Amino acid sequence: MSATATPAASAASVIKPRIRRTHLALFVKDPHGSAPWYEDVLGMTVTARAERWVFLSFGKKHHDIALIRVEEPSQAVRGEVNMQHYGLEVEGDMEEFRRLYGMLLAKGIEIFKITDHKVGYGIYFHDPDGHRFEFFFETAHDDEEGKRLLGQYNAPSDSFHLDPL
Ligand SMILES: [Fe+2]
Repeated sequence: MSATATPAASAASVIKPRIRRTHLALFVKDPHGSAPWYEDVLGMTVTARAERWVFLSFGKKHHDIALIRVEEPSQAVRGEVNMQHYGLEVEGDMEEFRRLYGMLLAKGIEIFKITDHKVGYGIYFHDPDGHRFEFFFETAHDDEEGKRLLGQYNAPSDSFHLDPL
């Protein structure tokens, strides 16, 4: 903060965003072509659509993920500087997590990796445009304990063997 800031300006600068929920918007080649994948693999429901976009929900919100068509096909190239992955923290027990793994395999979804993060396990895979998603099964349910574990183990992504059901 500069020494010349007005009282109003300094008050404005100290407010912190209080995030209630989040949503994700992705550029894709073909939103209407990709939406069925999101319904089939991620269990989402289409809540709104137009020529250039499709909005999808996990069940409660008007939209959790928006698929937006790139203006030009030449823009449909993922650079290295991009979203690394989007983690979907799943409900249920380990048996259900193993069933989700089995579901991905049954649908022919290529599994990128399965990892132990010490605070949970992750199954990574890609959407039709190469956007990486993670089904995340949390094992450290206390958030303070989770922060401590990530620091203690250096936020690991250790390879993990998961048996599908
Ligand atoms: Fe993650």
